[in-house]
Amino acid sequence: MTKIRRRTLLAGAAATAGLATAGSFVPARFAIGQQAKVKIGLMLPYTGTYAQLGQAITDAFKLAIMDRGGKLGGREVEFSVVDDESEPSKAPENANKLVTRDKVDFLVGTVHSGVAMAMVKVARDNDAMLVIPNAGADAATGPLCAPNIFRSSFSNWQPAYAMGKVMADRKVKTAVTLSWKYAAGEESTNGFKESFEKGGGKVVKQLWLPFPNVEFQPLLTEIASLKPDCVYVFFAGGGAVKFTKDYAAAGLKQSIPLVGAGFLTDGTLEAQGESAQGLETTLHYGDGLDLPKNNAFRAAYKKATNKEADVYAVQGYDAGQLIAIGLDAVKGDTSARKELIAAMEKAEIDSPRGKWTMSKAHNPVQDFYLRKVEGNQNKVVGVAVKALADPARGCKMA
Ligand code: PHB
Repeated sequence: MTKIRRRTLLAGAAATAGLATAGSFVPARFAIGQQAKVKIGLMLPYTGTYAQLGQAITDAFKLAIMDRGGKLGGREVEFSVVDDESEPSKAPENANKLVTRDKVDFLVGTVHSGVAMAMVKVARDNDAMLVIPNAGADAATGPLCAPNIFRSSFSNWQPAYAMGKVMADRKVKTAVTLSWKYAAGEESTNGFKESFEKGGGKVVKQLWLPFPNVEFQPLLTEIASLKPDCVYVFFAGGGAVKFTKDYAAAGLKQSIPLVGAGFLTDGTLEAQGESAQGLETTLHYGDGLDLPKNNAFRAAYKKATNKEADVYAVQGYDAGQLIAIGLDAVKGDTSARKELIAAMEKAEIDSPRGKWTMSKAHNPVQDFYLRKVEGNQNKVVGVAVKALADPARGCKMA
């Protein structure tokens, strides 16, 4: 982080110095536009179970800007940053602070679906540009879709649907699902159920605990007595680490295959150690993807942060790329809203995950990989579903 901050600041200072001499050679309106900074409001979790996810998104978003000489659409960038704590009750006030007080040009966030839903409401009420770099809340690109709302990540339905299909194709007969009881967990486990049952499987029970609780023991006891053929879970961040450890410690890892949306093992492998080895998950990213863009991204991210890249970093980086494409198309002029949105809709994002495009509902159309944990990597072992688009049920724009 410190490294990124210093370099961003240095790049910004150099750019300002350059402008002072170049100013008189460009038209006045353009010069004014160039001088004003683009305001980005980052609303992400920096504390709590999703803290590392928010930090990875932030670091990589800044990396995308550094790739462009510290600018977006030719303008320097100014950040307003809020820790949303993954706390939905504080979300309306936090989002309003950024949109109405700080008057950001783009609101970027967040990780938690419940918090994201409040951001969607604020963005709709104020016609503010919103880019969601993680939260999968189906409604954001479903019934609540809007021209000013984009997502660079996934819908909760997508990776879950992919895993249900993989399990059904293998002729697995029964499953138990388990998750935190909030939008992401509900939509993820329902997405799994949809494709698993369509393919002939049966979800015999859906188990829940409140977010972000990690008292898994009674639920593991129940799973042991239900004896399903597999267990599908949605957990992420700190909670995912505790869960794979408890699942293994309960002796279930050998007897009942544990699968999940890839968040279960993303950005968490070092902490999970042995408990995650061999686990299969589905996600729109895999560590070892041998693409030039991925190799370059992973090296640059490692250099800037001293951390390994994960799916959250990729989504944050792509949020930056998406905004850059929009602002480049209007030469930094955010008042050219129609053209800005049109460019973001048409964008083909050259992502570390592989190239992806935007659906009509503004959600990525992308490949979902089947991955298997090997050492400290989520190794890609196949493509579970190619170019999977969220059904965008209820989106009037689509
Ligand atoms: C969500 O709340 O939508 C969410 C949170 C963490 C993840 C994925 C989705 O890793």
